[in-house]
Formats: sequence, C-alpha cells, structure tokens
Amino acid sequence: MLEPRFFYGALYLFVICWSLEAPMAESGIGVNWGTISSHRLRPTTVVDLLRENKIQKVKLFEAEPDVMRALMGSGIQVMVGIPNEMLSVLSSSPSAADLWVRQNVSSYIGKGGADIRYVAVGNEPFLSTYNGQFQNLVMPAVLNVQQSLVKANLAGYVKIVVPCNADAYESASLPSQGAFRPELTQIITQLVQFLNSNGSPFVVNIYPFLSLYDNGDFPQDYAFFEGTTHSVTDGSNVYTNAFDGNYDTLVAALSKLGYGQMPIVIGEIGWPSDGAIGANITAARVFNQGLIRHIMSNKGTPLRPNSPPVDVYIFSLLDEGAKSTLPGNFERHWGIFSFDGQAKYLLNLGFGNKQLKNAKNVQYLPSRWCVADPLSDLTNVVNHMKLACSVADCTTLNYGGSCNEIGAKGNISYAFNSYYQLQMQDSRSCDFDGLGMVTFLDPSIGDCHFLVGVTDKDSDSSASETAKHCWFLLLLLFLHGTFWLSI
Ligand SMILES: *[C@@H]1O[C@H](CO)[C@@H](O)[C@H](O)[C@H]1NC(C)=O
Ligand SMILES: *[C@@H]1O[C@H](CO)[C@@H](O)[C@H](O)[C@H]1NC(C)=O
Ligand SMILES: *[C@@H]1O[C@H](CO)[C@@H](O)[C@H](O)[C@H]1NC(C)=O
Repeated sequence: MLEPRFFYGALYLFVICWSLEAPMAESGIGVNWGTISSHRLRPTTVVDLLRENKIQKVKLFEAEPDVMRALMGSGIQVMVGIPNEMLSVLSSSPSAADLWVRQNVSSYIGKGGADIRYVAVGNEPFLSTYNGQFQNLVMPAVLNVQQSLVKANLAGYVKIVVPCNADAYESASLPSQGAFRPELTQIITQLVQFLNSNGSPFVVNIYPFLSLYDNGDFPQDYAFFEGTTHSVTDGSNVYTNAFDGNYDTLVAALSKLGYGQMPIVIGEIGWPSDGAIGANITAARVFNQGLIRHIMSNKGTPLRPNSPPVDVYIFSLLDEGAKSTLPGNFERHWGIFSFDGQAKYLLNLGFGNKQLKNAKNVQYLPSRWCVADPLSDLTNVVNHMKLACSVADCTTLNYGGSCNEIGAKGNISYAFNSYYQLQMQDSRSCDFDGLGMVTFLDPSIGDCHFLVGVTDKDSDSSASETAKHCWFLLLLLFLHGTFWLSI
C-alpha cells in the first residue's frame, strides 16, 4: 500500500511539473526575434518573456547557439534562419549544407530540445536593392539543405521556406493584376514548385508602414485596419486596407503560376514606434492591434475569404539598437517591447493576456547616466557628439523622433549617455575631454527616455531549468517514498 500522503504529494508535483513542460495552445501569431542590439537581454530572459506572453512561435534570422539553447525545452515553435551571406557556400557545397543542418538543426532537435519547424533559406534574397546578387543561389541552396534534412531524417518535420519581400511581386494597379517581377518568374516558379511538393508555405514580408513612408501620396488611413476613405475597388472586391490589397496581389501572382491555393505565411509585419514622422507609439499600437484583430477574425481577404494566412510573425519582439539605419531611423524601433523587454504599449496578442507582460529579472546596469556638464563650455562638442552617435544609438534625436525637441544641450547629453551605456558605464567613456559627468538623477524628459544599459551575463535559471528542478524534486520524493516503504 502506498502511503496516501506520499501518493497525493507525488500526483500534485507531477501536475505542477507537467504544466511547466506543457506547450501552450496553438495559434497563428508569432514574433520575429532579432538580436542586432548593443544591449542584449539574456536569451533565457527573452524565452521567459515569450512564455509569459504565451507566444508560441518565434522566427529567428540565424541559429545563434545561446538563443537555440534557451529555446530548448520551451515548447515554442521555431523558424531558424540562414543569412544571405551563407547562400553561396550552401548552394555550391552539399557537405556545407550537411554541416549546417547537423550543427544548427539536428543538434538542438529531439526530446527536450528545440521545436524547429522551419528553416528559412536566406532572408528576402530577391530584394530588388540586392540587384540579383543572391537570386541564382537560392534554389541550389534550398535543394542542398533539403537533401541534408532528408539525410538527417528530418525533412518530414522541418520544412524549408524562403521569406520574400513583397517587392518580389507587383501590380499595375489592382490586386487581381498581381504578378511576380518578370526577372524572377523562372526562379519563383521553381521555388513554388518545390514548396508545393514539400508541403511548405510561401513566406512573405508585408510593410504598409514602408508604403506610407516611401510615398507621400499614400493614403494614411489605408495603411491601418480602421476603415478608410480611400478604398480600392477591384471588380466586385473592395479593399479597405493595404495589407489585404498586398496579400491578394500575391495570391493573384501565385495563381498566374498555377499555385493560387498555396498556403501563405506572413514572415514579417509591424509598425515602428520611433525615428520618423508616422512612427510613434499610438500608430504602432493601432496597427498591430488592428492586424491581430483582423487575423483572429478569420475573415481572410477578398481572394481568400475565411482563410487568413497560416501564421503571422510580428516584426518585431524587441528593439534592435545596432541595426543599420540605412532604411531610416525607424529601423531600430520595430519592437513591441523596448530593447530591455518593457512593453511599449497596450497590446492584446489574443492568447488570454489582456496586455503585454514585461520581461522579468532584467539585469540592468546601475541607475546612473552620463550627461553634458552644465558648467562647461560646449562649443567644441560637435566632434564628440558625432563620434558618440556613430557607434551608439541616437536615432530618437532626429526629426520625427521622441527626443527631437530636447534642445541643443539635451542632444549632447543624450548622445553622451547612449555612448556611456554602450561602453557598459565605463567611467572613462563619460569623459569627453572633461565635458561629460555622471549623474544619478534620471535625465529623461517627457517621452524622451535616457536609457540605462542591460547585461546579458547569465546568473539565474530559466523556466526550463525550473522544470528540470521540479522533475528532480519528484524523483527525490519517489526515492524517498520507496525507501520509506522498504523499511
Ligand atoms: C550555424 O549557424 C550559425 C549562426 O547563424 C553560423 O554562424 C554557423 O556558421 C552555422 N554553422 C554551420 C556549420 O554552417
Ligand atoms: C503618429 O503616426 C500617425 C500615422 O502613422 C500620425 O497620423 C500621427 O499624427 C502621429 N502622431 C504623432 C503624435 O506624431
Ligand atoms: C538635436 O539634434 C538633432 C539631430 O541631429 C537635430 O535635428 C536637432 O535640431 C538638434 N536640436 C538642437 C536644438 O540643436
């Protein structure tokens, strides 16, 4: 006979352990997790953030070992990315593809591992600004990686995709006239044949924000999901938002190739919150919430009624303060969370939480800032500021940014502080020939936030480790119980 107290204790613990392990409910909304940041959160902190927010799908641009390890045992579904720079070697060398799959897929997958569902071969490799540089590498790389997945016995579970920018297709005016760019027709035909035979979706990145940003004539309300005074009539179909119009342009382009039924995944979509006119907290919230509501309504689009995209990955999870600003200053501000995992606005992802939950156990540097010494003559500060902003992030200072109106001295302090935090608050980095000084009073003004850096040095345990400890406790209880019964 089992001691009842022991039995119930064990059952209770089992339920707790199981709930820590159990994957969360399926859903079509995921996030992109990019890591081009000068203040990286620990990957385990980010995975806890995903779990707290019940985010079940994540898209990566690489296969960084610490990120992959943090995702192991989390139950989160992963799309792992291959950067364009690797396409050349993967297209020419089957053994390089074998190695990539072994190191970046096989070694993480399996029981208690990472739930890798997709491998993204390249990232927007057909982007017109690449001038065809990667175009001819894509299919050979796809076929080599596919062969490697087959050899590793993973091809049935891990599907290859190729995330394309929406500039791969175009339309003279109406969605129903959509077609792939003429120079891509042959390659895209091969690609969709492969995707179709392999059971993979077509992955596309759609950015109404960029349509608005690049084109002064673009009707602003058409970019959102709140109704428009500029609807587009296409035969019997009426479009009230840019997303649906763009999506159906792709559907039409796929139909022309004979694949009008191909499943579509949105690889990236979102709205930046800073760094440009039109990039602000309100617009980002309204766009993302409207998008989620639209997807969850299962309404679909005029060409695909009642059939929304399979999955939608919001761009992005976190701000990435070290990204190139070539596209614009907004490029570092796409996160629904700031770089340190703090929610920027109320957003209901549709998973049960009414709003976003902040990251926990973020390891901030001490609460101190570097500012311009108010007593010094700042006439010769221009070069210091330029240097600071050439390495640290000063994008919010520019026109349209949240710190654009803090005055000349505020500008200098902001630049000094960004640099100081980037240098992990090394006291020498706040010198600036005696023009800088460290302060313990937060210099933030209004919406302009002076950051405090974070460190990604590991110290505490992740959720999956908590589960491990829990199982261990259960084992101990069993051993103890067996011991107790045997005497
Ligand atoms: C695995 O992925 C990482 C990160 O993307 C990359 O640096 C590395 O070269 C890849 N491994 C192989 C064998 O290609
Ligand atoms: C925020 O952006 C939206 C459109 O993107 C714009 O209409 C609005 O005026 C902006 N708000 C502010 C306060 O700049
Ligand atoms: C602060 O810097 C930004 C970006 O360089 C500039 O646009 C703005 O005019 C500056 N403000 C003052 C008062 O100098």
